[in-house]
Amino acid sequence: MIKREQIEEILKNIKHPTLGNDLVTLKMVAGIGIEGNKVSISLVSPGKKDPFSSSLKKVVEKAVKSIDSNLDVKINMKIAGEPDELPVLPGVKNTLAIASGKGGVGKSTVAVNLAVALAKQGYRTGLIDADIFGPSIPKMMDAEEFKPYAVERNGHKMIVPAEKYGVKFLSIGLFVSSDNAVVWRGPMASRALGQMLTEVDWGELDFMLFDLPPGTSDIHLTLVQQVSLTGALIVSTPQEIALADAIRGISMFNDKNVNVPVLGLVENMAWFTPLELPENRYYIFGKNGCDKVARQFNIPVLAEIPIVQGIREGGDKGEPVALSELPTTEAFNELAINVIKQVEMHNKSKIHTGYKSAK
Ligand SMILES: Nc1ncnc2c1ncn2[C@@H]1O[C@H](COP(=O)(O)OP(=O)(O)OP(=O)(O)O)[C@@H](O)[C@H]1O
Ligand SMILES: [Mg+2]
Repeated sequence: MIKREQIEEILKNIKHPTLGNDLVTLKMVAGIGIEGNKVSISLVSPGKKDPFSSSLKKVVEKAVKSIDSNLDVKINMKIAGEPDELPVLPGVKNTLAIASGKGGVGKSTVAVNLAVALAKQGYRTGLIDADIFGPSIPKMMDAEEFKPYAVERNGHKMIVPAEKYGVKFLSIGLFVSSDNAVVWRGPMASRALGQMLTEVDWGELDFMLFDLPPGTSDIHLTLVQQVSLTGALIVSTPQEIALADAIRGISMFNDKNVNVPVLGLVENMAWFTPLELPENRYYIFGKNGCDKVARQFNIPVLAEIPIVQGIREGGDKGEPVALSELPTTEAFNELAINVIKQVEMHNKSKIHTGYKSAK
């Protein structure tokens, strides 16, 4: 493992281009953090208009990586006298976006039930409602009355997230009434998401799930710019029109500038079985539609979730069906198991950042 002294030695050998001295002598090094193969270095720029700050960041990164190219190096530069830039989800191991092209296909239902299923399997799980304009997590978690509050952590005011059913979560709907959220403009929404990423005391988590709005919006952009996502799950019904939109969603994550692995599809509302005819399956939205798309993109179908009255009722009551031991719950347990498998596979394949188990 890399040692702090090795990094200090490197920094002593990097000179500021105009100030003439090395970074340590100039007292530009505010902090060095080492965790496994992750190295974070905080530098303080002496003045606001230092034209060399970004090139210095690159020089430092390159120099530290010259010790070991497998290191995951993050340099953060702040200006002397200005507040620290807060890190994004510092204690979170894996981040997953739950997305779809089409609205109303069950993203929020899948996000909430997957979060509960992961928590039940012992994974420390968080959920961020990134649907700033139409938040549904407070209702689906029966937490509409929860009022977030702030605590002081290392000199910063941090929001304490809500916690229920073993899941930590936050939604803009907990701060403003959902009627007010609709009138927000794009930049305000992006800022609200940014705050949920940096100004919340999430603690250590194995998974953070993001319940996204439908389509491809500013929020999607903000998310992929600010979080290096482990992967995305695309929710779709087997219906042609939903699948066409799901393909648009997959393409957005596959775009070379976005480059987020799509871990698989979740086929929701896959069929309906009436109570009195338990052997019968009615394929209301079509059959095996997600299979075709999955083959086309060479990604798995992670679960097939039937249409069940209890799923809808659980959503409306704020008691996710995944909490119970009903047969319906099986689909969400299986989804959780397959998601964990995919995450571990992807993390293993990212040799350059080192192997992380999901837990
Ligand atoms: N498998 C299912 N069985 C029964 N009802 C379901 C199922 N999946 C979702 N629903 C219901 O369908 C409605 C829409 O689901 P949900 O809100 O999860 O969709 P969404 O994709 O998040 O929508 P939006 O695009 O508006 O965010 C909800 O009333 C939900 O309870
Ligand atoms: Mg939703």
